[in-house]
Amino acid sequence: MKKICGIWAEDRNGLIGVDGKLPWRLPKELQHFKTVTMGAALLSGRKTFDGMNHRLLPGRETLILSRDKDLYYDGVTVLHSREEVLDWFASQDKDLFVQGGADLFSLFSADIELLYRTLVEGEFTGDTYFPADFPIDAFEMVSSERVKADEKNPYDFTLFVYKRKGWVEPS
Ligand SMILES: NC(=O)c1ccc[n+]([C@@H]2O[C@H](COP(=O)([O-])OP(=O)(O)OC[C@H]3O[C@@H](n4cnc5c(N)ncnc54)[C@H](OP(=O)(O)O)[C@@H]3O)[C@@H](O)[C@H]2O)c1
Repeated sequence: MKKICGIWAEDRNGLIGVDGKLPWRLPKELQHFKTVTMGAALLSGRKTFDGMNHRLLPGRETLILSRDKDLYYDGVTVLHSREEVLDWFASQDKDLFVQGGADLFSLFSADIELLYRTLVEGEFTGDTYFPADFPIDAFEMVSSERVKADEKNPYDFTLFVYKRKGWVEPS
């Protein structure tokens, strides 16, 4: 049964972005993102998509949120409001992952059932933070896995999964 999920990585201070990009380079964390989101639809804000140089991720459907009614990219569904996103979600069968940035997590905080949060064990410089008022208390942690740094991944990180309290994944 399809569901709406949130997925992001933050540092110890809740930082998620710098200059339109990620503040760190962690190939193993990107592999985790790929594994979790494969086959699903990914919704990102227009600035995050700009930061990805408008690259489409293979095996996943790309949705962008923007107020610009003229925005068009080949192979991308551009949506303009929460309501349009929820209408799109209702019209199809895939899971939907909200991948950020900051405003999108707040906008969909009541719709998300599962959270995939990576805590990067470092402190970085940047300009975009996960929203401090996100209602994390509405969720409970169901798993955590620490991944150790190695020669290609310079920081430890922990993969947390949370589910909305009281939510049971439909079979
Ligand atoms: N660490 C992570 O896991 C992670 C995940 C995602 C992003 N990031 C980082 O976060 C940064 C970008 O995030 P951001 O918060 O600055 O920007 P963003 O959320 O990616 O994009 C903001 C844009 O989304 C559109 N938008 C937002 N709310 C909307 C609404 N209610 N209705 C319609 N459109 C709406 C607007 O686009 P228009 O201006 O076109 O109208 C807005 O300017 C980058 O550095 C990126 O790398 C990190």
